[in-house]
Amino acid sequence: MARILFERVCKRFGDVSVIEDLDLEIRDEEFMVFVGPSGCGKSTALRMIAGLEEVTEGTLQIGDRIVNDVHPKDRDVAMVFQSYALYPHMSVRDNISFGLRIRKMAQNEIDQAVDNAADILGLTELLDRKPKALSGGQRQRVALGRAIVRSPSVFLFDEPLSNLDAELRVQMRAELSKLQHRLKTTTVYVTHDQIEAMTLGHRIAVLAPMGPDRKSNLKQVGTPLELYDRPRNLFVAKFIGTPPMNILEVHLDESGHLLQHPGFNLPLKPAVEAALASHRGKRLLLGIRPEHICEKGEQEWTETTSAKGTVEVVETVGHEVIIHVRCGEELVIAKLGPHRIPRYGEEVEIEMRGDRVHVFDPETELSLTAELD
Ligand SMILES: Nc1ncnc2c1ncn2[C@@H]1O[C@H](COP(=O)(O)OP(=O)(O)OP(=O)(O)O)[C@@H](O)[C@H]1O
Ligand SMILES: [Mg+2]
Repeated sequence: MARILFERVCKRFGDVSVIEDLDLEIRDEEFMVFVGPSGCGKSTALRMIAGLEEVTEGTLQIGDRIVNDVHPKDRDVAMVFQSYALYPHMSVRDNISFGLRIRKMAQNEIDQAVDNAADILGLTELLDRKPKALSGGQRQRVALGRAIVRSPSVFLFDEPLSNLDAELRVQMRAELSKLQHRLKTTTVYVTHDQIEAMTLGHRIAVLAPMGPDRKSNLKQVGTPLELYDRPRNLFVAKFIGTPPMNILEVHLDESGHLLQHPGFNLPLKPAVEAALASHRGKRLLLGIRPEHICEKGEQEWTETTSAKGTVEVVETVGHEVIIHVRCGEELVIAKLGPHRIPRYGEEVEIEMRGDRVHVFDPETELSLTAELD
């Protein structure tokens, strides 16, 4: 097993800069998820670990070795892709053992490795079938089996579940999580699905597409709860959470006590007030998650601020109701309990949790409150 270390890593394709100044440690036995929108460089970062892309600048270490110039087959990593490309004419057993056979491993060791992987993945009954006689989920498990039998120091996954239907994805997600818990192999998993990232990752690295300033596109690294509770910037705040965090234009009054919005005035706690002191009289962005807004009287929250508005959208999701409320110029999204379903066009009074607000500087897009308790 091994840790992986990116130090000031850049990746450019000619003039096209995809990754700049990436500093990141993936710890031994860690399940790290790379998440971000399409084109932000997730696959490129993963392919650099695999040795399928060269590192343009900086160093990349796996275990104790700098691997910039190490051939992919000597890196002791196993990669599983979105398209699992099984050999159609070979049985499941032969597909799983293929990599071991070309490495000329002894037959009894191969059999043992395959039986063990099949047992872990629930494929024992299917070892003699051909891929065409398997479901999508079973095929993806065969692809995982191919990676597991090699007992690599690192697993690399590039959106391995994205070809599966929703139900299978949830099932395979749970299986992957159990698998990593059992094998403890250092894992890097790429996805653009934030739910997958939140449920699988010990830690998550959020990447954004490279901006024109060519500054590092790594926006934050942290545990799922750190990203959810303390997003360091607007990008992470909006990327993590469904429905996404509400971002409202507010104004900090001259006294520094109140955030003013056309629909409400939000009083600040002393610690927040201190953090915002240099922004008195200025425009700021207030972030509040839909789950921290309810209909007035619905929750027993203290320190709430209320606002009135008109319901424009109602989405009933069984255990909760999501409403979009017009509050001045802006739409505020709130998650309500299932007790009462408001009507379209209804006037409602909503309550926001004052102790769960985030404040961002609109110029730098950095959070001014992420470091507070
Ligand atoms: N060989 C190449 N030459 C030039 N540009 C490339 C090359 N390979 C990738 N890119 C560019 O690098 C950027 C990052 O690509 P990458 O495949 O890493 O994105 P990604 O985050 O994995 O996206 P997705 O979620 O769509 O898979 C993209 O803008 C892509 O066009
Ligand atoms: Mg990709």
